[in-house]
Amino acid sequence: MRSAKIVGVGSYAPPRILTNEDLEKMVDTSNEWIIARTGIRERHIADDKTAASDLALEAARRALEDAKVNSEELDLIIVATVTPDFVFPATACLIQDRLGAKKAAAFDLEAACSGFIYGLSIARGFIASGEYDTVLVIASEVLSKITDWEDRTTCILFGDGAGAAVLKPAEEGQGILSSYLRADGGNWDLLRIPAGGSRILATHDSIDKRLHYMKMEGNKVFKIAVQSMQEAALEGMKRAGVKAEELSLLITHQANARIINAVAKRLGLPSEKVYINLDRYGNTSAASIPLALDEAVKKGRIKKGDLIILVAFGGGFTWASCVMRW
Ligand code: ACO
Repeated sequence: MRSAKIVGVGSYAPPRILTNEDLEKMVDTSNEWIIARTGIRERHIADDKTAASDLALEAARRALEDAKVNSEELDLIIVATVTPDFVFPATACLIQDRLGAKKAAAFDLEAACSGFIYGLSIARGFIASGEYDTVLVIASEVLSKITDWEDRTTCILFGDGAGAAVLKPAEEGQGILSSYLRADGGNWDLLRIPAGGSRILATHDSIDKRLHYMKMEGNKVFKIAVQSMQEAALEGMKRAGVKAEELSLLITHQANARIINAVAKRLGLPSEKVYINLDRYGNTSAASIPLALDEAVKKGRIKKGDLIILVAFGGGFTWASCVMRW
């Protein structure tokens, strides 16, 4: 079977920044509480007219440029998002058109914060089977649109952004060495948007009850996130046949600095091998890993030949890991 590797990355976040001080004027919170409990200092917020495809398009263009790949070469476009432009058509189809990716198939993928790794794994499978040669995986979120700006327990956490990666075939032992995907719907109700789907339709009543905004029982999610990400990392390393000390960098879903540090500690990784940028972006769900990955590559924190691991956890619950030789 062919291996698959990332040949280009790109990311984009909308220019407007919302600081913790701005939030102090909106809800009963403080800069100190937010930093101590989450590590977040500021986040990027899209304007009213911007949707997931707008952020995705910019990230995709940057990834294609980085990969030196023409959009007409793309065989498949996958967009991971919980904030698509529409229930349907898929955001990936809008991107296919806007990029002019004439021969590409396109679909959306919903695995919450684990969406980017789910997307990488699917891309890897298509490339390994020989069905496709060039796959674009994008994760794009405008969480600000599904955030209840009156709920201090959630509104301080989230931000908007997008990241993308172009994948192509690679020699064995290069690129993605393992991917590991898991899910457990038993706790689906700890993190969700109650209304707007086919269970509870969008009605005047659902809007009055603010049911079209994200709800999270953060404390319960926290504990499961640490445990699940540790498990995903260990299984991913086992499948790839690598040990923690061989890793150059750990990039996890950027939800909370305390979660990231707890996972790193359990894996025995020192802080210099852990990438954190949530202080500037907050939690951007599926987009958080490719945003961090792109930044880490551009800053020279990841070099050719480095062994890295991506680890995610999100609503569903879903969790996942991906080990790759850069
Ligand atoms: N400002 C000030 N006080 C606050 C705020 C706020 N913004 N929010 C909550 N508090 C209060 C609470 O009311 C509570 O007060 P009480 O003790 O008087 O009841 C106290 O602070 C502690 O609240 P906790 O919820 O226990 O705080 P915790 O330390 O758990 O931090 C947080 C909350 C940051 C949400 C954390 O639980 C977390 O990060 N959870 C996991 C998030 C995550 O990983 N999500 C998964 C991915 S996201 C996705 O899929 C989209």
